[in-house]
Amino acid sequence: MKLPPGVTIVIFGGGGDLAHRKLLPALYNLYVDHLLPAKVAIVGVGRKDQPDDAYRVFAKDGVKQFSRRPIDEEAWTTFAAALFWVNMSLDDERGFGTLGARLDGVEHERGLAGDRIYYLAVPPALFAPTVKQLARARFVVRASQRGQPFARGIVEKPIGRDLESARAINDAIAEVFDEQQIYRIDHYLGKETVQNILVLRFANSIFEPLMNQRYVDHVQITVAEEEGVGTRAGYYEQAGALRDMVQNHLFQLLALTAMEPPHSLAADVVRDEKLEVLLSLRPMDPAAVDASTVRAQYAGYLAEAGVNPQSRTETFVALRVFVDNWRWAGVPFFLRTGKKLPKRASEIAVQLKDVPPILFNTNPDDRLVPNVLSIRIQPDEGFSLEINSKVPGLQVNIDPVKMDFHYGTAFGGSSPEAYERLLLDVMVGDPTLFMRRDAVEAAWRWVMPILERWSARSEQPLATYPGGGWGPAEADALIEATGRRWRKL
Ligand code: BG6
Repeated sequence: MKLPPGVTIVIFGGGGDLAHRKLLPALYNLYVDHLLPAKVAIVGVGRKDQPDDAYRVFAKDGVKQFSRRPIDEEAWTTFAAALFWVNMSLDDERGFGTLGARLDGVEHERGLAGDRIYYLAVPPALFAPTVKQLARARFVVRASQRGQPFARGIVEKPIGRDLESARAINDAIAEVFDEQQIYRIDHYLGKETVQNILVLRFANSIFEPLMNQRYVDHVQITVAEEEGVGTRAGYYEQAGALRDMVQNHLFQLLALTAMEPPHSLAADVVRDEKLEVLLSLRPMDPAAVDASTVRAQYAGYLAEAGVNPQSRTETFVALRVFVDNWRWAGVPFFLRTGKKLPKRASEIAVQLKDVPPILFNTNPDDRLVPNVLSIRIQPDEGFSLEINSKVPGLQVNIDPVKMDFHYGTAFGGSSPEAYERLLLDVMVGDPTLFMRRDAVEAAWRWVMPILERWSARSEQPLATYPGGGWGPAEADALIEATGRRWRKL
């Protein structure tokens, strides 16, 4: 891992929520950990007319509220000196000229060579126009051409809202950046526990031999949120849970759980294997959509601020999917995610097959609990293995026990936030944890028949579920029809 000697980070949408809650606190923590280049400038760009000092106050407030560490005043003072603000509207062509002049000035002042990262922390509709303006203002040199100083772009999910719009965004990006210069963020990939999936699978000899259709009965992937839509209705109304969570976060978890071992950790080797999983997902026709997907909305959603009172946006999705390859043939993967569920809890549970009803497990009315490898993504990060054991005593009674690993007790301290990892990776130029164009489009391609079928069924009432419950009865039916149950989290 080699940091460049210096970098300028330009954050379009630098005065927004993402910058306030995530990006500025992440950059501050990288600074404290000596993981920013020796020379750095962080330039927020937005419509607000304010001096640099006001931006520094905004950043400090974000760090105070959202950083995993409290502020150290001495570190803050030197960090804050690297923060600048440029008032500019993205649709104003001349603004880019002003921005260019300011960036040149800041870089000159701080001894920076002009290596730049452009972070598009703006709504997806602004991705293409902003990238075009960057090109027009000659801010980007293709890596495949001169490549120096480097220019890298960061975009956030969602990349579009369907396959067509995702392609249009990717095309617009490709007109300006080479694929290797563009970093598409799915912040789940930056989570410590998500990075650990590969380590758990391929740095241990105990689990991998079991991870296939011979031993695995099924897999459950749950990403549950306690919060409702909050203040984000403007965005969420256009998205819904399938676009917001499944097409990206849950598919990334699925891909990491199901992928073949890559032959190296090189970014494209890992990403090729993850892509293979997405390409192996069994396509859904309309009948399969009806049988294998559940969508629902929490009661009270329609009364949330900014929500259309007739909205059919789903806040909960459950799916049954199959990865049709040799390893996973016939093993169902159950996915569910929703807002206003009983708690924030995300888990990947790999449930192994029952032992045969010989010796033990002979009573059909009182089956042994199957072994489960459960990877807790958040909170209470860690993993556990549920196994059966004889209860001490003179009779043979068998109960499940847990071998449990908690990050907190094993390693102590707080893990870096996902955005710290991801921003660091962009600075060192490692795209492993970012979504490649082909994977984004493969995910959309698979999701399209579901979106189309759901919209064709728009006269049918949408299922609802009470806030604080685990989703609608249909979600239970989806899994129970196969003789299985959702795990209690
Ligand atoms: C975002 C979604 O990508 O992820 C949000 O847009 C969601 O709707 C969030 O709440 C969940 O992230 P985390 O890190 O809190 O699990």
